[in-house]
Amino acid sequence: MRILVTGGAGFIGSHLVDRLIKENHKVIVIDNLTTGKEENINPQAEFHNLDIYDFEKIKPLFEKIDFVFHLAAISQILISIKDPVETSKVNILGTINVFKAAIEAKVKRVIFASSSSVYGNQEKLPLKENMRPNPVNPYALQKLVGEQFAKLFTKLYGIPIISLRYFNVYGPRININSDYSSVIGKFLKQKAEGKPLTIFGNGEQTRDFCYIDDVVDATIKAMKSKKLKGGEVINIGSGKSYSINYLADLIGGKRKYLAPREGDVKHTQADITLAKKLFTWQPKVSFEEGLRRVKEWFKKKIQN
Ligand code: UD1
Repeated sequence: MRILVTGGAGFIGSHLVDRLIKENHKVIVIDNLTTGKEENINPQAEFHNLDIYDFEKIKPLFEKIDFVFHLAAISQILISIKDPVETSKVNILGTINVFKAAIEAKVKRVIFASSSSVYGNQEKLPLKENMRPNPVNPYALQKLVGEQFAKLFTKLYGIPIISLRYFNVYGPRININSDYSSVIGKFLKQKAEGKPLTIFGNGEQTRDFCYIDDVVDATIKAMKSKKLKGGEVINIGSGKSYSINYLADLIGGKRKYLAPREGDVKHTQADITLAKKLFTWQPKVSFEEGLRRVKEWFKKKIQN
């Protein structure tokens, strides 16, 4: 198959590309390297350094493509709060461009990387796909708009677009080099530099952390599953939830408690019944084991 991956130089995208190449697919990557890294791109992939909002430039790359994975985005919540316009340009207009290019090329299916952040704060856990979304930051709203376009375009144009709501994905290649890195990347770096772990609020907020290999498994199953018709929204998480204080326990070292972060959700925990049903998927890597693997990767990385 010929498969196009937007965001294929990013953390999740590059792992997905590696797996697709292992399965002998021809893979085309679009990435503008804002957060993605060239070193992450599998050398067997065909790489194009382009912005997804540049429709005319990306459109020809969709010719003769069978499947599209749309992962390119500005995924940092704080950046979306600081710059809702630029992030909407990428996360909304860029997404519409990718969908439109895929539709015009008549691809078989598009998988769109949405986010658990569309749930915002809900009264009950676990989070189920039929709960009413409640975005508490621009990024979450942008992802929700993407999901709505996925549904609408599936109906209007007959090309199936499926949204996967990824929970907090972690694993090797997680971003560690910026204030906007995810909590695991930040804590590992802080610990290595002998600095205290910065905890926003009381640390009792919880997250469903899902290991990268499990996320890639689910994503590829969503490409292959015969049960999907398009327009679906499906949670991809571990189904378990851990507090930031527990994560700090596992990493160890000193801590510094700071004011709660703006636009932060209190708790997430995925109900993964739908993913299990639609593509017989089951997350395999426990949080403790996943964290052990990330620590190992991090140790090697800072030695080089
Ligand atoms: C993350 C992703 C987002 C994704 C979403 C899915 C990042 C940067 N963001 O958002 O793209 O769509 O998951 O659920 O990966 N925290 C601290 N101290 C820190 C950093 C964070 O206490 O130094 C806390 C935060 O307050 C938050 C939790 O850790 O409660 C997780 O934060 P973070 O890793 O930034 O991810 P999300 O905001 O959940």
